[in-house]
Amino acid sequence: MSPKILVLGGLGFLGSNLIRHCVGQGHTDLLTIDSAEPDLGGRLRPLAEVWDSVQFLRGDIRDPDLLRQIVEGRDVIFNCAAQTSHTLSFADPFFDADVNGGACLRLLEAVKTHNTTAVVVYPSSSTVIGRATGEMIDETHSERPLDLYSAHKSIAEKYHYIYGKVHDLKTVILRFPNLYGPCGRTTPDYGFVNYFISLASEGKQITVYGAGDQRRNLLFVDDAVSVMYRSAFDERLYGDIFFVAHDEHLSVIEIAERIVAEFGRSTVVSVEWPETRRRIEVDSVALSSEKFRAVTGWSPTFGIDQGLRRTRQIMERGQSAE
Ligand SMILES: NC(=O)c1ccc[n+]([C@@H]2O[C@H](COP(=O)([O-])OP(=O)(O)OC[C@H]3O[C@@H](n4cnc5c(N)ncnc54)[C@H](O)[C@@H]3O)[C@@H](O)[C@H]2O)c1
Repeated sequence: MSPKILVLGGLGFLGSNLIRHCVGQGHTDLLTIDSAEPDLGGRLRPLAEVWDSVQFLRGDIRDPDLLRQIVEGRDVIFNCAAQTSHTLSFADPFFDADVNGGACLRLLEAVKTHNTTAVVVYPSSSTVIGRATGEMIDETHSERPLDLYSAHKSIAEKYHYIYGKVHDLKTVILRFPNLYGPCGRTTPDYGFVNYFISLASEGKQITVYGAGDQRRNLLFVDDAVSVMYRSAFDERLYGDIFFVAHDEHLSVIEIAERIVAEFGRSTVVSVEWPETRRRIEVDSVALSSEKFRAVTGWSPTFGIDQGLRRTRQIMERGQSAE
């Protein structure tokens, strides 16, 4: 029988791409919950083509009664609901702590009490480590997050880890770098790659702070969702934490230039670092996905050029359908 899947945060960037992936894998019993704040509006659009296969409930993962109801009978839970802005985590720290920390704890309690056989896959962030020390970073690196979002992600990781070790829940923690692709957030408070893509697609100038020479790994969202999906069904991964990133290690300015080259309608300028950004900047970091690769044999399908090409094609298809 096809597994019953629950996606928390299914109207978001990762959640909506994951739902489309699950539908593509033939799943028909898909439930998704999203608070859809501040408005529902166009937020349902990314799921239009798979709508018949998805049951949508508007709700808040901070609500323990809702969590109890939705985890019951589910085989796989993808925990993608979150407040996802590093900068906005300072604007409302308690909200961030409650959604990114407390709600994850409530979810795990609900799973422990009502559905111990469910697998819970948690997308964490590589920024939990803070500023990297050393050439190549793996899971043994210390954690000194520089912003509240990353601190609360780090706490939620530990919750998932502890419930795996102590209560035998089947939890998998995947630390992703910056993800990019279709249906991403388009404002500067969220991931910079999707923001740059949205600017370039509208022919607007891309602004890079300082020299933009800090180097990063990225991951195309299709690779991220296929990793999440396969992780749910691979018990060798349960109870552990993994970095999962593409090996390409590009500077921010190179990433901006590749985006301009793909979309062909923008330019890149450099400006002074705003102090608020400078203080939470993690600088260069090179992530190793060796641990995940050693267990699963995984390698990503999309390099930056292929990922950007696919993003542009999907965005153009979406625009012509409107
Ligand atoms: N996008 C990235 O680059 C990236 C990188 C690493 C990790 N992650 C993690 O992946 C997950 C998904 O990120 P995303 O990029 O899709 O973010 P997103 O902001 O696009 O989506 C998050 C979704 O969660 C929903 N949500 C927020 N609070 C909620 C609540 N209290 N109850 C129910 N729904 C709520 C939002 O409405 C939104 O649809 C997050 O946990 C994020 O930390 C993302």
